Amino acid sequence: MAVPARAILKGMQGSRTLVFAALLLPLFLLACGDGPQEVDSTVVARSPAAGDEASPPSTPGGEPASDATVEASHAAPPSPVAPTATPNADGVYIVPCGDILVPLDKLHRLEEDCEPQGLVLLTGDYAFEQQRVTEDVLPDLLALIEAAAAEGHVIAVVSSYRSFETQRNTFQYHVDEYGLEQASRVSARPGHSEHQLGTTVDFSSAAVGHELVEAFGRTPEGRWLAEHAHEYGFVLSYPEGMEEVTGYIYEPWHFRWVGREVAAEVRASGLTLGQFLLR
Ligand code: DAL
Repeated sequence: MAVPARAILKGMQGSRTLVFAALLLPLFLLACGDGPQEVDSTVVARSPAAGDEASPPSTPGGEPASDATVEASHAAPPSPVAPTATPNADGVYIVPCGDILVPLDKLHRLEEDCEPQGLVLLTGDYAFEQQRVTEDVLPDLLALIEAAAAEGHVIAVVSSYRSFETQRNTFQYHVDEYGLEQASRVSARPGHSEHQLGTTVDFSSAAVGHELVEAFGRTPEGRWLAEHAHEYGFVLSYPEGMEEVTGYIYEPWHFRWVGREVAAEVRASGLTLGQFLLR
């Protein structure tokens, strides 16, 4: 299995300065064979607002931007389904495939063959390389990106759906580079990543070179997301200062879509997403 060819990892100087890279999905897809055949359709995000100075991420093969308005879905997502009551042989609970509200952390994981239905390709000026999310996520994702752009914040999706196999390679890359302890703080083991749901995206912006770094949280784009993402159904999964609860360092870029109603409830609860889903 090929090792990810592109990853950016900066100084490992403790949790507050710990930064790491997104592994570019297309290379993984090529390496893992879970590529375009899974794509149901192509969706093109709209161009940034005129006057935006920030350079959009590269979109090789991207099509012209569309002016089509996409209505955000306000439909309530499925109700949570309790994970299996008995831990698997590895001490981890297997959660149901196809439920977007399952808890996924170091004690809960998806099966290896669990793949989301209805993946769509997100290309255009707001997608860094080719990214995929489920079709249910797309309206809110585009609405979020467009709302941010309207306020002068060009936000790009730099990572999105990752298969079990891709996540296996992602985690192994971090283990190989930084050792198991540090890898476990920044990367989920295969089956444990919210990215396998097809509802989770990593955002970044030109202000931080489209990298996934803690500094993104201090950029105007990162601040806008922290304040407004829930309005579009997205929740920051790994907030600052909550590593002991979430198991992962602060990831100001990692947002999981749960639908607008649930996102509002999570925010009002004051709980982390994991705490909320397991309450
Ligand atoms: N970086 C998060 C924890 C993941 O790998 O899903």
